[in-house]
Amino acid sequence: MGLTLDYTAMFEDAIGVGNGISPAMLDGLRDIFADTRVDLMARHKAGDMPVWDLPFDEATISNVEAFAENNRDRFKNFVLSGIGGSALGPIALHNALNHLQHNLLPDDRRKGCRFFCPDNIDPDLIGDLLDVIDPSETLFNVVSKSGGTAETAAQFLIIVDLLKKKLGDDWRRHLVITTDPERGFLREFCNRERIQSFAINPGVGGRFSVLTTVGLLPAAMTGIDVRSLCRGAAGMKDACFNDRLEDNPAALLAGMLYLSQSTLNRPIHVFFAYSNRLYPLADWLRQLWAESLGKRYSTDGKEIYTGPTPIKAIGATDQHSQVQLYVEGPADKVFLFMGTRSFNRNVEIPGTDIKDQTVDYLQGSYLSQLLNAERRATAYALTSAGRPNMMLEFDEIDAEHVGAFMYLFEAATLYAGGFYNVNPLDQPGVEAGKRVAYALMGRPGYEKELRVHPETSGYLSRKSRKLKLEL
Ligand code: PA5
Repeated sequence: MGLTLDYTAMFEDAIGVGNGISPAMLDGLRDIFADTRVDLMARHKAGDMPVWDLPFDEATISNVEAFAENNRDRFKNFVLSGIGGSALGPIALHNALNHLQHNLLPDDRRKGCRFFCPDNIDPDLIGDLLDVIDPSETLFNVVSKSGGTAETAAQFLIIVDLLKKKLGDDWRRHLVITTDPERGFLREFCNRERIQSFAINPGVGGRFSVLTTVGLLPAAMTGIDVRSLCRGAAGMKDACFNDRLEDNPAALLAGMLYLSQSTLNRPIHVFFAYSNRLYPLADWLRQLWAESLGKRYSTDGKEIYTGPTPIKAIGATDQHSQVQLYVEGPADKVFLFMGTRSFNRNVEIPGTDIKDQTVDYLQGSYLSQLLNAERRATAYALTSAGRPNMMLEFDEIDAEHVGAFMYLFEAATLYAGGFYNVNPLDQPGVEAGKRVAYALMGRPGYEKELRVHPETSGYLSRKSRKLKLEL
């Protein structure tokens, strides 16, 4: 059991000189790899990077399991209110590991609560969700590391108001908050109102938090085996610290994707899932990659405006939407296919009395065979067109494999930070946007944000150019 990475078609001997990586290019990364590894290990040893040890945190795992054991059957619905790193991990786990129609299954066939995570504040989305959720059957989980993100704060106010109006004194029982152990508005609120809560390890940033209480609690409440998830993640640790580049899957992945951009001019990284279970993992990875690596400044303070542009795709669907562009359009992309040898279901395409050469070849085979043939065919077409691509195959999509995948890519992101020479753990661009939104919404103390951002204030004061199409 495990994950297999086939990176043959990343190299120039498979896809042509100028298209693929050469052994010399990989050699050129060895020093920076060694330095990055030493730095990561030193920071890990100093306790500065708790992300490496999350899957070994027995106290948190047991705590979450005990909470889920006591509460899973008391609620029909689990609604997670959070955004970005506080939502994408839980969504990815739910999709990868629960039944794909989990919420529609009858109660006795579901292993845990129904799961809802809007990950946005579109009023139609929130309003329509609240139409179908009975608060008396629902546990609301408000998740925010900072405790003050506007989108989550707004949902928090709506939820508390709804619970108080509908459930009176019982409202507290329907709320659990996941936030910083000591700081922030939400922590103060929990303390003041005696709300049940979980702490997010303060040294772990939002997009790296899936293996903290942020991801583990919703997973356990919906019936996912969080112990196996963490076991799978833990099993990756040694490999991700290996000192030989070719034997360190995290550094190798990061290095090849980095080289595709820096030496082969392919800044667009396509995470191409051939499995509906894996697709939200591509979404989670997209955030991890983009927010960690897209940076204005290098670690030594130079303006570099760097970073890849990750996009996600799903097969076979996007073969009929994007693949024309991928195969024949600009040579600016590198592809990471994500697939599985073994789907949870085996749906046979039946042999029937319909006889026609258009459909005969399909009869008696399986949808998994067709989908995987299409995955290989797309990879083959890209390879033939000289487009670098690699294939990451899950032997199975279960909690252990998904845990391993997530740990691997968190580690890859940390190595990529070294290669791109940026701090992968901060997000000043996101914070800047948050502050301007506070100012636009009239939050006291943020008035100067509009003035100190010349582009924003310039835009606001400029004569507008609009086109209205009357109906
Ligand atoms: O990865 C990140 O740091 C961000 O995407 C955050 O997770 C997101 O902005 C939400 O922040 P918070 O959990 O503080 O509400």
